[in-house]
Amino acid sequence: MASPQEIDNLQKSFQRAATLSGSPGAVSTSPTQSFMNTLPRRISVSKQTKALKPFSTGDIKILLLENVNQTAIEIFNEQGYQVEVLKGSLPEDELIEKIKDIHAIGIRSKTKLTEKVLRHAKNLVVIGCFCIGTNQVDLDYAAKIGTAVFNSPFSNSRSVAELIMAEIVSLARQLGDRSIELHTGTWNKVSAKCWEVRGKTLGIIGYGHIGSQLSVLAEAFGMHVLYYDIVTIMALGTAKQVSTLDELLNKSDFVTCHVPETAETKNLLSAPQFAAMKDGSYVLNASRGTVIDIPALIQAIKANKIAGAALDVYPNEPGKNGAGSFNDDLNSWTSELVSLPNIILTPHIGGSTEEAQSAIGIEVAAALSKYINEGNSVGSVNFPEVSLRSLDLDQENTVRVLYIHHNVPGVLKTVNNILSNHNIEKQFSDSNGDIAYLMADISSVNQSDIKEIYDQLNETEYKISIRLLY
Ligand SMILES: NC(=O)c1ccc[n+]([C@@H]2O[C@H](COP(=O)([O-])OP(=O)(O)OC[C@H]3O[C@@H](n4cnc5c(N)ncnc54)[C@H](O)[C@@H]3O)[C@@H](O)[C@H]2O)c1
Repeated sequence: MASPQEIDNLQKSFQRAATLSGSPGAVSTSPTQSFMNTLPRRISVSKQTKALKPFSTGDIKILLLENVNQTAIEIFNEQGYQVEVLKGSLPEDELIEKIKDIHAIGIRSKTKLTEKVLRHAKNLVVIGCFCIGTNQVDLDYAAKIGTAVFNSPFSNSRSVAELIMAEIVSLARQLGDRSIELHTGTWNKVSAKCWEVRGKTLGIIGYGHIGSQLSVLAEAFGMHVLYYDIVTIMALGTAKQVSTLDELLNKSDFVTCHVPETAETKNLLSAPQFAAMKDGSYVLNASRGTVIDIPALIQAIKANKIAGAALDVYPNEPGKNGAGSFNDDLNSWTSELVSLPNIILTPHIGGSTEEAQSAIGIEVAAALSKYINEGNSVGSVNFPEVSLRSLDLDQENTVRVLYIHHNVPGVLKTVNNILSNHNIEKQFSDSNGDIAYLMADISSVNQSDIKEIYDQLNETEYKISIRLLY
């Protein structure tokens, strides 16, 4: 049964829909038409697809915090959403106030969307993390209240690949050391042990988004590329996949890591792996700080086995910018590492470019718009990933049902009983832990049917949330 609160909300939404000016359909006062106004508006994503109806509170309200990129603001404005943009994050009490009646929120890393905050979100359909990480959001609780979370894991792949390419050349030419020397007044023009990268072999561990971009750049520099990955991946250009890590280590002049942080990749390169590498080879890591055993790397450099290293990530990293924070208290080996020659150290900036920020804005805003307008959850980090192809413009009287529910036996039977008076054109359902998500397009539905379907679905026992798009 719908709770008294839900019935009250629905009645209030009828009243609001009838009195809102500027809201499509708000002129009608019939209960059915008013109910239609409570549904999300179809907003065309492309000319071929249908648009959605607005929520009862007017257009979809989205709050963007922490200077989310302009590209995202433009996309949301184009969708016709009510967009509020704030430069900074918000203290918890203000966030709690704001989150009460918005449908979507866009954040970066500083805004903490904890269970305490999310408990106050009554209409929140979706959260966009305009960054890579999502640990600032309580993902499980968000899923429990039927809120999908999206991020942008791959928009900065090119930026990382370019940094690594630059570092390969820099290590080969000892650029970091020459630059530090000259900054301190020392002229040291040397060519011994400085190399061109043309004709050398680059070994890429992890041939995913970043590794494969790098492969193309390295070949353009005239390098041979080998890669090792736990899955078989088609090579780009003339790169070659090798079947063991050892083979890659034995044959490469430069070894670079582009793997995720997993139990298997912890200390992936340690003393035995450095021993297996060519004498005078180089090591690079812009993946995760746990992937390289740094004390073992220090020993390999001291033994002249490894001729240099470029590191962008560390087991422990300072929480904020500032002088003096990269020290032995953070990682016990820091002072030993910084005293070695030909070591390029960067503060986790692999993906930090203007282009990446702009691409993140587009990627996350597009994912949020697609979820709001069509229910497509592909790419969500906390939610079952479900997608249905868009409705055609000529598909009259077709309603898309988005039904988020607890993952327990028998729910689909109940739901399909409710939908069975209509033609179910297509449906798709998936689960992720305790949460399941059903998308269904049903045709031959008239306006009064919609209210009935909504009421019946609303009364189902394991419902978390429902949206009907028409
Ligand atoms: N420095 C930065 O600023 C920055 C920016 C973006 C991403 N990253 C990090 O870079 C890494 C790679 O990112 P991506 O976008 O290319 O990831 P991805 O998921 O596209 O690719 C990772 C690849 O590693 C492979 N892999 C997984 N485990 C492996 C193992 N044990 N041995 C060999 N291969 C293995 C996977 O099969 C996959 O092909 C991630 O750790 C990511 O967090 C860092």
